[in-house]
Amino acid sequence: MKQNSEIGKLDQLPRVKLGHLPTPLERLDRVAEMLDAKQLLVKRDDCTGVGLGGNKVRQLEFHFGLARSEGADMVLVTGATQSNYVRTTAAFAAKLGLKCHVQLEDRVPGVGELYKTNGNVFLDQLFGATISTYDEGEDEHGADRKLRQIAREYEEIGHRSYIVPLAPGNPPVSALGYVNAAREILVQCETAEITLDEIIVASGSGETHAGILYGLRALGSEIPVTGICVRRTADLQVERVQKKFLALNDLTGLSIDLNDRDIQLNDRYLAPGYGLINDHAVEAMRLGGHLEGLVLDPTYTAKTFAGFIERAKDAGKDKSLLFIHTGGTPAVFAYQDQVQPRL
Ligand SMILES: Cc1ncc(COP(=O)(O)O)c(C=O)c1O
Repeated sequence: MKQNSEIGKLDQLPRVKLGHLPTPLERLDRVAEMLDAKQLLVKRDDCTGVGLGGNKVRQLEFHFGLARSEGADMVLVTGATQSNYVRTTAAFAAKLGLKCHVQLEDRVPGVGELYKTNGNVFLDQLFGATISTYDEGEDEHGADRKLRQIAREYEEIGHRSYIVPLAPGNPPVSALGYVNAAREILVQCETAEITLDEIIVASGSGETHAGILYGLRALGSEIPVTGICVRRTADLQVERVQKKFLALNDLTGLSIDLNDRDIQLNDRYLAPGYGLINDHAVEAMRLGGHLEGLVLDPTYTAKTFAGFIERAKDAGKDKSLLFIHTGGTPAVFAYQDQVQPRL
């Protein structure tokens, strides 16, 4: 496969190329040795650059492309209090000289002071975003409605706004970043003569999961992708990923088929719920840190790494597995009071 392999209209879509790409593909030799595994790898999407990086940078390149093509002078986004999406949007907007309004949703019960003020919240402030809050963390449509109302208020005083939407049903613009990432991974594997047997990635909104699966299939790769549920259980998540996958055809102009069995999900590391820590996540954070110098966050990447370890144990000496490190680095500091005593 060549670096410039086309995926329909992907390369003609509006995009602001700010991410530090391609991100490195690294070996996890110490974890592989511990698990007696053949070959374990990590795609360092925690190193995408903008505002401390993460998967949202690739996604926002396409949103900011749209914002720019629509002549917006401000961007609005909604997410959990410790949302990495929100933080990265604020950094992106700062870099491009756009005003940014972020809405922080109260999604995680029983959180302490650090969660409300440190990590991503601290960075939202450093990047100069205006912050408002929304009380009902499980009401995605309500959060979007509230954001649209705020956007209207800005428009009344002369702003031109672009909203990064949250709820399903919107075109999967964010997933385009991972369609592109799939191509990047295939090129890197080809160059390094690596044959991948499976990719393991967090599945939250499902944009990353759907995008990577779509990109692989569009390029003729059959590598299995397993999504680790970090937001909702597998029975609810499957339809989201499916719809986003199929809606990508509208954006690329291709007609890639989806075999429903292709959407693999594991929700065994989700409990007690979104943003809530469990023993597997703490152990994954400890392992990643002690053996590989990786920073994993409790909400997304630690739970996903726990799922990756499970797959690596099953795969043994036969398979090469890739963990997509989707970032979340600043959130570690918002969870310090919960993680440190358990290390
Ligand atoms: C660090 C990190 N990893 C993974 C995800 C999940 O990605 P997606 O929402 O595209 O499923 C998120 C989403 O917020 C995230 O912030």
